[in-house]
Amino acid sequence: MKLINILVVSSLCLTLCLSTLVSSSLQPYQAIFNFGDSLSDTGNFLLSGALAFPVIGKLPYGETFFQHATGRCSDGRLVVDFIVEAFGLPLLPPYLALNKTQDIQHGVNFAVAGATALDPEFFYQRKIGPVMWTNDSLSTQLGWFKKLKPSLCSTKQECDNYFKKTLFLVGEIGGNDYNYAFFVGGNMEQLKASVPYVVGAITNATSALIEEGAVELLVPGNLPIGCSAVYLTLFQTTNRAYYDKRNGCLKAFNAFSKYHNSELKRALATLRQKYPHANIIYADYYGAAMPFFHAPQHYGFKSGTLRACCGGGGPYNFNNSARCGHIGSTACKDPSSYVNWDGIHLTEAAYRYIAEGLIHGQFTKPI
Ligand SMILES: *[C@@H]1O[C@H](CO)[C@@H](O)[C@H](O)[C@H]1NC(C)=O
Ligand SMILES: *[C@@H]1O[C@H](CO)[C@@H](O)[C@H](O)[C@H]1NC(C)=O
Ligand SMILES: *[C@@H]1O[C@H](CO)[C@@H](O)[C@H](O)[C@H]1NC(C)=O
Ligand SMILES: *[C@@H]1O[C@H](CO)[C@@H](O)[C@H](O)[C@H]1NC(C)=O
Repeated sequence: MKLINILVVSSLCLTLCLSTLVSSSLQPYQAIFNFGDSLSDTGNFLLSGALAFPVIGKLPYGETFFQHATGRCSDGRLVVDFIVEAFGLPLLPPYLALNKTQDIQHGVNFAVAGATALDPEFFYQRKIGPVMWTNDSLSTQLGWFKKLKPSLCSTKQECDNYFKKTLFLVGEIGGNDYNYAFFVGGNMEQLKASVPYVVGAITNATSALIEEGAVELLVPGNLPIGCSAVYLTLFQTTNRAYYDKRNGCLKAFNAFSKYHNSELKRALATLRQKYPHANIIYADYYGAAMPFFHAPQHYGFKSGTLRACCGGGGPYNFNNSARCGHIGSTACKDPSSYVNWDGIHLTEAAYRYIAEGLIHGQFTKPI
């Protein structure tokens, strides 16, 4: 039954994906390179030591689909996994797991959980550095790609041909730049002032990839952080005016995500003028995720949308002293009935719907 479902979904997707991609002047990809944070890390952080979050190396992380921990911060697959599946490509190997014998022609994943768009210096200068999980920021990940490039193609002609059929996923990235600052007490004004820097780091990396030869790029925005269990717990208040009546999310934090996203879209528009030959697509993660909170029953999220599946209690089942995987936490029986997996990251079920929203074109915008 399950297998049939998967087959139906993927053949349906193949037809739809291809038609969507043809209509948006893209072609089926033969390779995908991914940059980002825990939303798309398929193992790098765990391989780098994962000192700040070792529990991703054991169950219940990975219990769905893989049935063992892979270093993904979820119960199962991530958006990037569903995207590579839709193109019939193998799951991307994490960069830090590569060895000399491995085939990397179909792509590699450079994302690291906890990674920021801005370099660590930015945070150390602002005394936020010590709370960072990793120093492998976007520019470090870009450096890894540059190191790998000579083994992908050599002549300009060869690289042009290869990159024509290669998709670059630049994010989601930037969410942690704000998470770290908010979690150590940064206020909304300070955070808003940092948005141009974060967006600048994302567009700089996107430009750098284009200069390296990339022509097909997908740049996602941030999720609605005001609906996230960690934010809902840390910024809990008795003032009901702070909550969106329709969905129970924190209004100011969702407005912040929207602000980041609109600045990112604006910066990408400028980039498109600078590089008219490149196809720079914005991926609207916010728009793809918001319907979960407005119409959860439509997606089978029958256990509520704001409580995490795996956690250590409290109104949103997020307890920083008993986070998912730690003593005092428990995981729900059916993660597919939840949006939120561990308070911070989403479930495979939620990621699947976001990926479908992107692949079918509804939440990807060329302009
Ligand atoms: C290289 O990685 C591949 C894929 O993970 C694995 O099958 C193979 O055994 C590895 N080879 C060496 C020499 O470690
Ligand atoms: C990041 O770099 C700083 C400065 O070099 C270092 O003190 C810190 O331990 C590093 N953080 C991690 C998570 O590796
Ligand atoms: C982006 O690149 C420009 C030009 O190279 C540089 O001045 C700026 O500092 C960079 N911004 C970030 C956030 O890295
Ligand atoms: C959070 O976890 C700690 C440690 O297990 C526990 O003492 C505390 O009661 C929990 N808080 C809530 C609200 O469940």
